[in-house]
Amino acid sequence: MGFSKDFLWGGATAANQCEGGFEQGGRGLANVDVIPIGSDRRSIITGKKKMYNFEEGYYYPAKEAIDMYHHFKEDIALFGEMGFKTYRLSIAWSRIFPKGDELEPNEEGLKFYEDLFKECHKYGIEPLVTITHFDCPMHLIEQYGGWRNRELIGFYKRLCRVLFTRYKGLVKYWLTFNEINMILHAPFLGAGICFEEGENEEQVKYQAAHHELVASAEATKIAHEIDPENKVGCMLAAASYYPYSCRPEDVWEAKKKDRGNYFFIDVQSKGAYPAYALKELARNNISIDMMPEDIEILKNHTVDFISFSYYASRVAAAEDSNVEKTAGNLFPTIKNPYLQASQWGWQIDPLGLRITMNDLYDRYQKPLFIVENGLGAIDIPDESGYVEDDYRIEYLSAHIQAMKDAVDEDGVDILGYTSWGCIDLVSAGTGEMKKRYGFIYVDRENYGEGTLKRTKKKSFNWYKKVIETNGEDLSNQ
Ligand code: BG6
Repeated sequence: MGFSKDFLWGGATAANQCEGGFEQGGRGLANVDVIPIGSDRRSIITGKKKMYNFEEGYYYPAKEAIDMYHHFKEDIALFGEMGFKTYRLSIAWSRIFPKGDELEPNEEGLKFYEDLFKECHKYGIEPLVTITHFDCPMHLIEQYGGWRNRELIGFYKRLCRVLFTRYKGLVKYWLTFNEINMILHAPFLGAGICFEEGENEEQVKYQAAHHELVASAEATKIAHEIDPENKVGCMLAAASYYPYSCRPEDVWEAKKKDRGNYFFIDVQSKGAYPAYALKELARNNISIDMMPEDIEILKNHTVDFISFSYYASRVAAAEDSNVEKTAGNLFPTIKNPYLQASQWGWQIDPLGLRITMNDLYDRYQKPLFIVENGLGAIDIPDESGYVEDDYRIEYLSAHIQAMKDAVDEDGVDILGYTSWGCIDLVSAGTGEMKKRYGFIYVDRENYGEGTLKRTKKKSFNWYKKVIETNGEDLSNQ
């Protein structure tokens, strides 16, 4: 048994967290550029505080990030050395359409990704491309209000058509929106939305989510028309909720919270708003402006596979004001007393990955793709930059083992696994560099100090061996 021989092992990054070169090659300004590190970050990514340009006294880590814009050949060579079969990366929308609403794309931006994809193929690496990973041109935000505006669907379709046409034969795996459910928790980051005083935020978020869902179905349609070989996936910030206790009210709360996430994938994979969501929206007086053609497009253009990120499981309780909380991916959760946590408080739960995979596969019966998983930790390099990251190897091997169990023991169908931040990059949640996920250490600190030198960590050779043995040898030797 074990993984199929074409299992796609690899790593994942996002343009805004590694590329840098924010003003180069004709690229326009994007939401991700103007999100600083520091205490205001949270209120900015959640759309509570407006920051539409660089301001004095702040540091903006995405402007240069790890400068992959200039280092991509060196970085992809290292991925090739590890034996990657796939590399997940995202397109910076404002590199292709600097303002977002132009009729013609920016050739320099298109050429940049073409060179990058060709570089991948030199090493037999299949690109897995996220069309938007927390990324929206600033002009679309200032002029149109981001994804709250239906017009964004048209601009996104234009972007997709250009990408699918230009990269036909170079890219076959596409993801429409990174962690689409994060629009509810980080609306400026996920959808370029800032709230106006007194407006109904839930209404705005669900209307914007509807636009993204329609855009995602449109993208799937165009991708299949342009090249029937294209495979399109949705992408969910996943992790099943555990009830805090066996009290039926806690179990019910966990189910409701799961549905809050599944809602997006239910639409993208099953092709319609589920009954529970229609009821919930009506109960909350949220009315979605939906065109008759939306229903058709959602129904007829569902995704080919289900991709997701998984870092930690979550806990739900009917009454949670007196229970201890801990941090999680972009929003906190209840602390699970049975689990250890990372240095950032994210709870470590490999079995939770197997549970999540089973939940998703039972529900959708489509191949899964784990496109993010990993441990954000403080690495202490020696003088040469080498890091002995046994803690990371321990985390990853336990999660890969759980994924293997889901395949071998439960029969879950899975296309591949790309560990998050295969090279150190800027954290989306905190903007820090010191929260590192990589197999490759990058000499770069929180406020831009460092030489950008790349050095292999201990986990580099470990992951190389995992790939070489197709996941059979997970030992740390
Ligand atoms: C996911 C995102 O939310 O988690 C990534 O898709 C992000 O962009 C990753 O980096 C890990 O989160 P963080 O906050 O540790 O960077």
